Amino acid sequence: MTAPKKLHVKTYGCQMNVYDSERMTEALAGTGYEATDRPEEADLILLNTCHIREKAAEKVYSDLGRLRPLREANPDLKIGVAGCVAQAEGAEIVARQPLVDLVVGPQTYHRLPDMVARIERGEAGLVDTEMPEEDKFDHLPTLRTPAAKPAAFLTVQEGCDKFCAFCVVPYTRGAEVSRPVARLLGEARALVDRGVREITLLGQNVNGYHGDGPDGRTWSLADLIWALDDIAGLERIRFTTSHPNDMTDDLIAAHGECAKLMPYLHLPVQSGSDRILKAMNRKHTAASYLDIIARLRAARPDLALSGDFIVGFPGETEADFEDTMALVRQVGYAAAYSFRYSARPGTPAAEKPDVPVEAATERLHRLQALITEQQQAAQRAMVGRETNVLFEKPGRLPGQLVGKSDYLQAVHAEAPETLLGRVARVRVTESKTNSLAATLI
Ligand code: SAH
Ligand code: SF4
Ligand code: F3S
Repeated sequence: MTAPKKLHVKTYGCQMNVYDSERMTEALAGTGYEATDRPEEADLILLNTCHIREKAAEKVYSDLGRLRPLREANPDLKIGVAGCVAQAEGAEIVARQPLVDLVVGPQTYHRLPDMVARIERGEAGLVDTEMPEEDKFDHLPTLRTPAAKPAAFLTVQEGCDKFCAFCVVPYTRGAEVSRPVARLLGEARALVDRGVREITLLGQNVNGYHGDGPDGRTWSLADLIWALDDIAGLERIRFTTSHPNDMTDDLIAAHGECAKLMPYLHLPVQSGSDRILKAMNRKHTAASYLDIIARLRAARPDLALSGDFIVGFPGETEADFEDTMALVRQVGYAAAYSFRYSARPGTPAAEKPDVPVEAATERLHRLQALITEQQQAAQRAMVGRETNVLFEKPGRLPGQLVGKSDYLQAVHAEAPETLLGRVARVRVTESKTNSLAATLI
């Protein structure tokens, strides 16, 4: 018997890419590829890429350059580029980096086993960036590998129809598509059978979910969450990423009523200035966002919030930026992600003149300092309190396990290994820089 071929996948970007990488690994397992963490022993290396900011996209090329010595050591090594850079740049990737044997977009990776078979036979420079009518998930293996982790992702919705002026996602992922409810419940049950205790529902615009229900109705995300709530053994439900305009009443209510739905919500607003929000084509205002937050907190008073911010969007003045700072102060985030605006080819905002880089960088630092302060305050507020933790892996010190609180904070505690993959009650004793220390109750 020949030794199994080895596949190394490197994942960039968002959680949806993490999910896709797992599915690609499974699809290729069917053709005899075994996953490895070590690129130097791989027969096939796949980079699952992100196009959201220039830095992320350029990193792919520097990483590809670094694969040259591996190719020299093993001329049979095959190299593929998947994900959003693949979709956006297609054949240009092979032109710019001839090491690349195949390019496959996020909507056609079910064809990966065929493409790999072709490059194994000596074909080169294959490119598939179609956005086919067929659903790739119908063509992918449904039997998932035994879950190594108690917390799993499940893609329920893909693509985006919102067209924010700065964003490539509608172009790289295509139009919004929701997967049918029956398929998702089947996949969720299979995950739980394999030991998964927490499922995070994924979508670029996940709260816009509108899938075909088994009853012939169109189901909302809240309907789906309530159906997942009935799965015995599933203990925690999360979802990301949401758009403020799709925060419907039933979903807001679920935060107060569904015990398995965790009290943490990532709700990006991008800016606190209505002038900039309009230029971004966000179709909401700072006030309408704050109103949604108020309704969410009325439903679930201990809800932890996170958000995304873009600093230095074309035309942003110091006064606009101050509006963002004011909004952040008003909300009080448990965590938040902030980025300097990056002009992306093909997006409407890319036509407009940039804010000088020094000004944008200086604003970013101010915003990040405020966010860090808020995150630390949220962590300190946990000290002395009880919370649940899903222990996901061994900690850095012997005898320690680490996991996430209900509020998605990292928590470590001395705990027996039998608690791995289980939810336990702890009391928080100390707030560290990026985690909480706790003791079992
Ligand atoms: N679908 C999600 C997230 C999209 S990408 C949403 O609508 O919120 C994740 C984050 O990257 C965005 O929320 C935004 O803050 C940031 N981002 C997107 N395009 C960007 C760009 N051109 N420059 C800088 N940050 C960007
Ligand atoms: Fe991008 Fe806006 Fe769609 Fe989010 S809602 S993926 S930021 S276009
Ligand atoms: Fe990046 Fe594509 Fe996700 S651009 S953020 S990997 S949807």
